Amino acid sequence: MSILVTGGTGYIGSHTVIELLNNDQEVIVVDNFSNSKPEVLNRIHTITGKNVTFYQTNIEDKQAMAQIFKNHPVDLVIHFAGYKAVGESVEKPLKYYHNNLSGTITLLEVMQENQVKNIIFSSSATVYGEAHKAPFDESMPTGEASNPYGYTKLVLEKILQDLSYSDSEWSVTLLRYFNPIGAHHSGLIGEDPQGIPNNLMPYITQVAIGKRRELQVFGNDYPTHDGTGVRDYIHVVDLAQGHQKAISHNLKNKGVAIFNLGTGQGYSVLDLIRAFEKANQVQIPYQIVDRRPGDIAIAYANPERANQELNWRAQKNLYAMCLDSWNWQKKNPEGF
Ligand code: NAD
Ligand code: UD1
Repeated sequence: MSILVTGGTGYIGSHTVIELLNNDQEVIVVDNFSNSKPEVLNRIHTITGKNVTFYQTNIEDKQAMAQIFKNHPVDLVIHFAGYKAVGESVEKPLKYYHNNLSGTITLLEVMQENQVKNIIFSSSATVYGEAHKAPFDESMPTGEASNPYGYTKLVLEKILQDLSYSDSEWSVTLLRYFNPIGAHHSGLIGEDPQGIPNNLMPYITQVAIGKRRELQVFGNDYPTHDGTGVRDYIHVVDLAQGHQKAISHNLKNKGVAIFNLGTGQGYSVLDLIRAFEKANQVQIPYQIVDRRPGDIAIAYANPERANQELNWRAQKNLYAMCLDSWNWQKKNPEGF
């Protein structure tokens, strides 16, 4: 089986590529390194002993993408490539709409022209918006996004659904990720944010290693058990394995299938801080500040559909997530 992975040197993509190689898939990676480093490829080789075919290409470059499909038979595409920083998407909406939408449309056109109609897409729990009460399940209508990044996910889900309605040969799998954290247990790959981290776990690990003075906890007046926001943190290796499971489902089923990838368990910001401190015997100084605009109080998945239909279930607990995040940060204080 030959799988083309866009964004395959990024955080989730690199962990997924390792799972695919471990399952003897042939992997072609396309990434333009806009948010990742070439060193990731060496690390993937060290971990798996296997090579991927790599193209440093922008997925918006139609000619280059067409050439890649000419060079290789492709059975299925796993599409991670896109920008993901929520705050930046508010400041630079055109950058986000352009890259995420036109990059994906170009990819889909090239796929169609080459009769490759199997795609697994990285969507997000953000598509549920604020209208529903957790646990979120896939039968709920999607909500309003609170930022341009979130809208790119809503629009891309819609584009993929429309494509499938127009041509019944397409198999589209929409994977709605909850909050991936953790790293490969080797400590060789992990999340490598550029600049100040937007997300909670990379901020915590940077405080732990002394790069940041203290964590700001965004609000303690939410209607949750301790007032801080509750999320469904999922180990990135579990998430990566969800993709491997989604492949056989995608190949067997035409049309659109939507799956939450989460644990089904919600933890607050303070729960995560305490778990990290306990697992790693480090202190995380923090200060409570105002809520972050756009944040919701509680988000966690109903993962039943993925459990049943993909035969996938998250295995790793919060303790393992904290250990592996810290192992990666300690071994790579400056990232890759
Ligand atoms: P990431 O930034 O680490 O990885 C994305 C990769 O895509 C990067 O290596 C980047 O260089 C590449 N890329 C971006 N635009 C490109 C383009 N035009 N052409 C080629 N390569 C391009 O992000 P991630 O955390 O691994 O996320 C992967 C996907 O999952 C994204 O689509 C993201 O929106 C989605 N997602 C992530 C999270 C999360 O918490 N990390 C949650 C929900 C959904
Ligand atoms: C955010 C994005 C979401 C995106 C996801 C993964 C917003 C509104 N949502 O989700 O669209 O899919 O990242 O990239 O940005 N927190 C702190 N201090 C911090 C950082 C976070 O207290 O320094 C809190 C947040 O308020 C939240 C929790 O920690 O309650 C998790 O935050 P984060 O890791 O940014 O993820 P989400 O907000 O769930």
